Amino acid sequence: MPDPVKVIGQFNKPSGWLGRLNLWDMNRRHSALTDWGLKQVSISSGDTILDVGCGGGRTINKLAVIAREGKIYGIDHAETSVAASGKINRKWIEAGRVEIQQASVSHLPFADQAFDLVTAVETHYYWPELVADLREVMRVLKPRGTCIIIAETYKGGKFDKKLRRLEELKKYVQYSHLTVEEHREVFVRAGYSDVQVVEEYERGWLCAMGRKPA
Ligand SMILES: C[S@@+](CC[C@H](N)C(=O)[O-])C[C@H]1O[C@@H](n2cnc3c(N)ncnc32)[C@H](O)[C@@H]1O
Repeated sequence: MPDPVKVIGQFNKPSGWLGRLNLWDMNRRHSALTDWGLKQVSISSGDTILDVGCGGGRTINKLAVIAREGKIYGIDHAETSVAASGKINRKWIEAGRVEIQQASVSHLPFADQAFDLVTAVETHYYWPELVADLREVMRVLKPRGTCIIIAETYKGGKFDKKLRRLEELKKYVQYSHLTVEEHREVFVRAGYSDVQVVEEYERGWLCAMGRKPA
């Protein structure tokens, strides 16, 4: 039986060849979910955007195409994710349109009010202090800027029964498995306004978003 800490570790902090393989696979598996999630927010061509927990880097790539005159930043606490994201975004990095660095969501290496939008795809489950980390995201957002969390696992979702075992993960690692209402609550507790949670129930997808008050 595989060691659950090692297995979940490849999602929480990918490393080595298994991590690279997983990042490649997640780029493929999360693509449709990401496209759906990004349609829930308005993105202008000149926006400055941060993707937190950028993993294999495909979201950064999509954002660079949408915000075609803007600048996209990515952070991830795993060295392997930063390397993978850098590889698939090399063209954009060389053009000065993308920057990627190793950092934790809890200590973002950016000035206050730097971003129009912060995206987080399939990563918030692992953040050490979800409410405090959402506040840290808010610090780097411009007033009226948006934070969006995009996820394919949540409590009460269509595939929740199959995912019950996720609850067991809490014994081994930090893992937030939240309901729709709990997603709303964490945004409200972090001080966001215009908080919304959108479910695509049939596909088991959810996105939660809020704005930094003006
Ligand atoms: C399941 S992967 C998702 C990657 C990518 N966003 C995607 O949709 O394919 C989660 C990513 O979040 C990163 N991550 C987890 N906790 C983090 C934290 N506290 N700070 C920054 N990155 C984190 C992991 O290293 C990993 O690359």
